[in-house]
Amino acid sequence: MPVLRDLMEEFGHISRDDVATVADVLNLSVAEVHGVVSFYHDFRTTPPPAHTIALCRAEACQSVGGEQVFAETVAAHEGRDDVEVREVFCLGNCALGPSGMLDGRLHGRLDADRIAALTGDWR
Ligand code: FES
Repeated sequence: MPVLRDLMEEFGHISRDDVATVADVLNLSVAEVHGVVSFYHDFRTTPPPAHTIALCRAEACQSVGGEQVFAETVAAHEGRDDVEVREVFCLGNCALGPSGMLDGRLHGRLDADRIAALTGDWR
């Protein structure tokens, strides 16, 4: 895990070649390393887009409209290669839901208008 986290921190993703190299160095099978990489959502196998919106889909945020915020945000950014909208499950900000991370920064009480305002300069 520390090696995979280091690769993510350095390169933003873990390539197929990286998986093979890690497996070789740690005397593991490629399948074992790939299994870990594909299991954890924080690991990715392709370079990240310029911007990321990670919206909470856990219970507390869903109870205050998180599902609608997610759907509206996905629709608003559909077709953009520079923005990834993804789901996460609890950011520890439950009292201020719907919560999300915009380029790694935590925000609460999100709605589609607020997200649009916060990401307006991403174009
Ligand atoms: S349930 Fe969304 S931050 Fe905890």
